[in-house]
Amino acid sequence: MKHFINLKDIPVKDLRKILIDAKDRKRLRKNFDNLEIDKKSPLKGKLLLQMFEKSSLRTRLSFYLAIKQLGGSTLTLRPNELHLSKGGESIEDTAKILSSFGNAFMLRTNSDKKLEEFGKYLTIPVINGLSPSSHPTQILSDIFTVEEIKKKPISKLNIAWVGDSNNVLNSLIAASIKFSFKLKIGCPNSYQPNKMILNYIKKNKNKIYIYNKSKEAVVGADVIFSDKVISMNDKVNKTKKLNDFKKFKIDMKLMRFAKKDCIFLHCLPRGNEVDEKVFSSKQSKVWQQAQNRVHVQKSILLYCMEKLR
Ligand code: CP
Ligand code: NVA
Repeated sequence: MKHFINLKDIPVKDLRKILIDAKDRKRLRKNFDNLEIDKKSPLKGKLLLQMFEKSSLRTRLSFYLAIKQLGGSTLTLRPNELHLSKGGESIEDTAKILSSFGNAFMLRTNSDKKLEEFGKYLTIPVINGLSPSSHPTQILSDIFTVEEIKKKPISKLNIAWVGDSNNVLNSLIAASIKFSFKLKIGCPNSYQPNKMILNYIKKNKNKIYIYNKSKEAVVGADVIFSDKVISMNDKVNKTKKLNDFKKFKIDMKLMRFAKKDCIFLHCLPRGNEVDEKVFSSKQSKVWQQAQNRVHVQKSILLYCMEKLR
């Protein structure tokens, strides 16, 4: 079994295998209903346990459909109903039980440490469904969407990120290093990625550039990514942060500095970092992006359970 915790720890050839499998599976499901099962039910009899310590709409729904379409089933545990949350049971004991009742554990958590600890004690795969420091299933799926729309490997494209240096950007940075694509980041000076991430960038061969002007980040871009300025559980002065990002809003004027056929992606939910006109324009592919989570997460589940074709 294999965990799926951080993109930086997964070999790129495995990430590529996941993307290839997802493409095949998506093609083979044309005209299928949501709950129709893929040929050969590759995860028949398998149970995915899911737990969310933070809100979720897309990750929750897409993992539900993903395991169902592979022939398995899922159960969502509410953190406040487990002994673990009140400190009445250790992660180690909880992990033992999860491992004997389920076949994989998808966790959205407030704590990277907790994720690592589950990784240590579980004998079934743990999948990171968003942590304070990363959102790897989102970004792998976004690479799928970019390559699907652009019909080119991402290494041949210019990717821009305009927005906060958060969990989603950290995973995009890891992906840029793994898949070797150019990534230009636009954010205010005081909101650059943290030291650990900057060190990770420095230590690895990379094509990553950081600007404090949004225009410089998007010139020549094939794709512009963004995310909310205020993330879940972001403990900051919200009014100040929103004000600091005022000049980083993605509007039509900014889009014009990118390539003509540049697309806009956003993991959702959105705040006011993107203008309605851009969000609802033809260049915005956010609904296709959200849909693709199902396809890629199916292949992630197969990878974790060592059933990738
Ligand atoms: N993009 C994403 O992870 O959405 P949810 O928070 O709704 O799961
Ligand atoms: N950066 C956002 C992503 C939500 C999917 C957050 O952590 O809230």
